Amino acid sequence: MLEKANEYIKRNHIDEKEKSLFHVTPETGWMNDPNGFSVYQGKVHLFYQFYPYKTEWGPMHWGHQVTEDLVKWEAYPVAMAPDQDYDHIGCFSGSAVEADGKHVLLYTGVSQKDGKEIQNQCIAIGDGKTYEKWQDNPVIKGDIMPEKFDRKDFRDPKIWEDNGTYYMLVGSRSEEIPGQVVLFSSKDLKEWKFETILAENKTGEIGVMWECPDFFSLGEKHVLICSPQHMRAKGYEFHNGHNSLYFTGDYDSEKHTFEKDAPVSLDYGLDFYAPQTTLLPDGRRVMIAWMKSWDSCVIKEKQRWQGMMTLPRELEYRDGKIWQKPVREIENYRKNRCCYENVKVGESLSLEGVRGRMIDLIVELQNADGIVDGSRNSGNQNQEALDVYNEFRIELARNEEYTTVFTYDRKRQILEIDRTWSGVQRDVVCTRKLQITDGRQNLKLRFILDRSSIELFINDGSKTATTVIPTPVEADEILFHSDGNAVIQVEKYDIVL
Ligand code: FRU
Repeated sequence: MLEKANEYIKRNHIDEKEKSLFHVTPETGWMNDPNGFSVYQGKVHLFYQFYPYKTEWGPMHWGHQVTEDLVKWEAYPVAMAPDQDYDHIGCFSGSAVEADGKHVLLYTGVSQKDGKEIQNQCIAIGDGKTYEKWQDNPVIKGDIMPEKFDRKDFRDPKIWEDNGTYYMLVGSRSEEIPGQVVLFSSKDLKEWKFETILAENKTGEIGVMWECPDFFSLGEKHVLICSPQHMRAKGYEFHNGHNSLYFTGDYDSEKHTFEKDAPVSLDYGLDFYAPQTTLLPDGRRVMIAWMKSWDSCVIKEKQRWQGMMTLPRELEYRDGKIWQKPVREIENYRKNRCCYENVKVGESLSLEGVRGRMIDLIVELQNADGIVDGSRNSGNQNQEALDVYNEFRIELARNEEYTTVFTYDRKRQILEIDRTWSGVQRDVVCTRKLQITDGRQNLKLRFILDRSSIELFINDGSKTATTVIPTPVEADEILFHSDGNAVIQVEKYDIVL
């Protein structure tokens, strides 16, 4: 099956120009969750849920790509196919660790028994290029858990090593608890012990079945990331149904308890799910996520691949929350700097040189913090201050036919994303609103555009919003509008690999 997949990929090569330039994209077919994001022998490896034969989800393989700088990726042979009794329905999501010089993949083997689907945790061991499934798989079967725990929803192991012990966190549910993550430990990766339920939500308010958990220390805190299914929106949080969120808290590594704070959305756009992190040798905690939603298909007509990854993002814990920034390596690929200062934006403004679809664009908007008059300037009530805009808009990936619009409502401090005219051909969700609560006088919007996507980093990573657009690349104009006196600074670079 592995050979068949690799042969198929070779025969169905897709021109690189039809894919993203610097976002991980499948060679052909379907991609979902990032898996096994890890550093092994000096390179960063990323595996992913992969079905080569269609642009739809199917029996899961593990695709594999490798990078030295988190921007340029090289495709490796498919690492795993669903070819054993214990994983014939699919090699579901998981993670990786280096052990005794080997690269060890932990994944969920999905099989069927007596007409029922079961999910167990399995191992494959490799050298960074080829992997062999362990002869004694599965290493953790559902029956190791307390009785009422579900055998079907028991997946997505995240592994790490601490002081000679391996820990594995797995998403799960039970008859009483709709969403939880359970912790196991092992000295040798083969014999595992059930430790505890590390975190749970009994009311169902935080969705059901917490998929793709991750757990790590960041600054003075521990962070639990998970992607609960079927969650309802609350205020401006959790609008994606299947959400990705984080809890910060305090971890007692002796008792394996985690005192967690309230959950927070990890991203506020339309396409972000199942993030996974790894620790780089230089100490940076980097996160990558599936840049798609389970509920919408936003691809161009005739596109032969579907699903891609976000840009890896550096995480930082500060002022009680997580900040996200694009990995700094992207700056090595910036070309053709184009910069404007103190530009007044009227009804419609385009700026010479500010356009493109593979770009890093920073727009800083003055007086964005909702204060209406000139009182900030010690009572200066000049006309200009009174005429300050209420609405400011940026249109990206635009031409006469297409546009994706970001509208900022200054008084309410709400930013709205609208991709209705981006070329979407189905009745999919096109708008999302998010609240900006930093209380900063200026609003800094950093947009990273790559052929089919827009990632927005607000106020140096206080919030992010990630959105896929199916817009032809010829639509590359950028337009600014305001209904008053909006003043902006603009800095734009092409990303050239
Ligand atoms: C999350 C998920 C995982 C599962 C995988 C299957 O998107 O549902 O829980 O392992 O996708 O492809």
